[in-house]
Amino acid sequence: MKYSLLIIASTLIALNACDNTQSNNQTKLPKTDTLLNNSKLDTSSIVPNGFTLLENNCFVCHSPDAKLEVRLAPPMEAVKRHYIDKETKEDEFTADLIKFINNPAEENTKMPGAVKKFGVMPKMSFSEPELKAIANYIYNSELEKPDWFDKHYQEEKAKYSGKK
Ligand code: HEC
Repeated sequence: MKYSLLIIASTLIALNACDNTQSNNQTKLPKTDTLLNNSKLDTSSIVPNGFTLLENNCFVCHSPDAKLEVRLAPPMEAVKRHYIDKETKEDEFTADLIKFINNPAEENTKMPGAVKKFGVMPKMSFSEPELKAIANYIYNSELEKPDWFDKHYQEEKAKYSGKK
């Protein structure tokens, strides 16, 4: 619906532009600026924001609150910690994340333990702007994590440290 409004609006803008050159054209179109003000076009909703994308597509498995025993995948905070350390720049993270989502495969994993436990993540497809919005949100936001997470994370870290 918003897309068709946008199309109508841009068609009208184009038509109005023609009007200037054909001054005796009598078609009564609403003035473009009145139309834009009245239709309350919300262009921010056209590329969904990172949080909405995560909520709609990722948290069902990477839930920020599901219990340890019933999980389908690690919490996104755990994913984040495997992808980002103090040195990681946002564009490096974005590239790594996009690479995995576009081709989830065992040879691309940074989380072999998770692959063993849950199996490889299924392939989904997103547009480039959507993937960037997702990466941007993960990189720049404090993600919610389950209450068991911090303790479990320390235990896992102790278990695997030195084994790398
Ligand atoms: C159907 C469940 C499911 C959904 C939906 C899902 N994931 Fe995953 N994801 C998994 C599982 C299972 C793993 C752990 C196994 C693995 O790494 O492949 C995983 C792991 C990951 C990893 C770490 C990959 C690695 O191994 O290095 C990233 C990054 C990731 N997911 C991002 C996302 C993002 C972003 C979304 C939403 C766009 C998403 N996932 C949606 C199941 C899911």
